[in-house]
Amino acid sequence: MKAYVIEQFGEPSVFKAVDLPQPGLPPGHVLIRVAATSVNPVDFKIREGAVKGISPDFPAVLHGDVAGVIEAVGEGVDTFKLDDEVYACAGGIKGLGGALAEFMLADAALVARKPLSLSMRQAAALPLVSITAWEGLIDRAKVGAGQNVLVYGATGGVGHIGIQLAKWAGAKVFATASSEEKMAITRELGADVAINYRKQTVEEYVAEYTGGKGFDVVFDTVGNDNLQTAFKAAALNGTVVSTVSLSTQDLSLLHVKGLTLHLVFMLIPMLHEIGRAHHGEILFKLAQLVDKGKVRPLLDSKSFSFSEVAEAHYHAESGQAIGKVTLEQ
Ligand SMILES: NC(=O)c1ccc[n+]([C@@H]2O[C@H](COP(=O)([O-])OP(=O)(O)OC[C@H]3O[C@@H](n4cnc5c(N)ncnc54)[C@H](OP(=O)(O)O)[C@@H]3O)[C@@H](O)[C@H]2O)c1
Repeated sequence: MKAYVIEQFGEPSVFKAVDLPQPGLPPGHVLIRVAATSVNPVDFKIREGAVKGISPDFPAVLHGDVAGVIEAVGEGVDTFKLDDEVYACAGGIKGLGGALAEFMLADAALVARKPLSLSMRQAAALPLVSITAWEGLIDRAKVGAGQNVLVYGATGGVGHIGIQLAKWAGAKVFATASSEEKMAITRELGADVAINYRKQTVEEYVAEYTGGKGFDVVFDTVGNDNLQTAFKAAALNGTVVSTVSLSTQDLSLLHVKGLTLHLVFMLIPMLHEIGRAHHGEILFKLAQLVDKGKVRPLLDSKSFSFSEVAEAHYHAESGQAIGKVTLEQ
């Protein structure tokens, strides 16, 4: 099969088109004929060698997100049949082949039928970021009606789904962004209030929108040093959920405000082979929400083909993209 691989870490130009043997089909797995994929920060962190502990062996087929059609069904799988249109986040990390190929092998537990109302390109934008937002806001923070939820990085991959899931769960949603254009997008996605974090300090927007009390739940998709800002934004006994905490932080504010901090790491089921069925379930429920018009993917205005994977990575890493960068065969 045709595949785009890396044989060394480096700039996006390290991607090479090669022929690889088609993966075998172990029990419990499906073979997906790949139609589309999307770029997530973890893909370019793997490519540049920043997270070697979770990188696949060379030649490495990257990208977890996939949308495509079932090409073959392994022994013991009765949830899918040939030609089903599916989506998943199912590989591109240590031990698991990725989506930048003609075919991707996937544990059937990680896969779900794709939303009927979306194209393959749109569906491929959703899995990794939606599972992350779901684990953070629904599973961990248990966001519900009457809560105030603040989302940092609200037009980013995880943040734009975070806005929509929190809204669906009944919360009042506040979304941070760095420009008027991005603030308008957060409102279109359902945010009740858009906040320009470059124009207002955390003390100012906590005072303006919560009377100084803080937000019940803060979803921090920026993480690291932004965590201190997230701790300041949270209400007494509130909850902070983050997707990035690869840094040393002072936890004093957590203590004096009685906060609960959750860190989500959505690669765990793939890396450690535990809890994979939950990811399939999340994608099953998400597809229903998408088809009911409750959740939609935000795609960057530039779209790429698989042969333009280097350009797609340059663009995704540039910080210029708004929403997800997607690739179609
Ligand atoms: N642990 C996990 O399981 C997991 C899963 C998914 C993602 N992640 C990580 O989570 C992070 C976000 O992922 P993503 O896919 O959403 O990335 P993304 O699409 O690049 O979005 C990041 C967002 O952060 C905003 N931002 C950047 N600096 C900011 C700051 N100082 N304050 C507030 N907002 C800021 C940007 O918007 P503005 O232009 O408006 O600033 C951008 O929209 C990445 O580091 C990724 O690796 C972790």
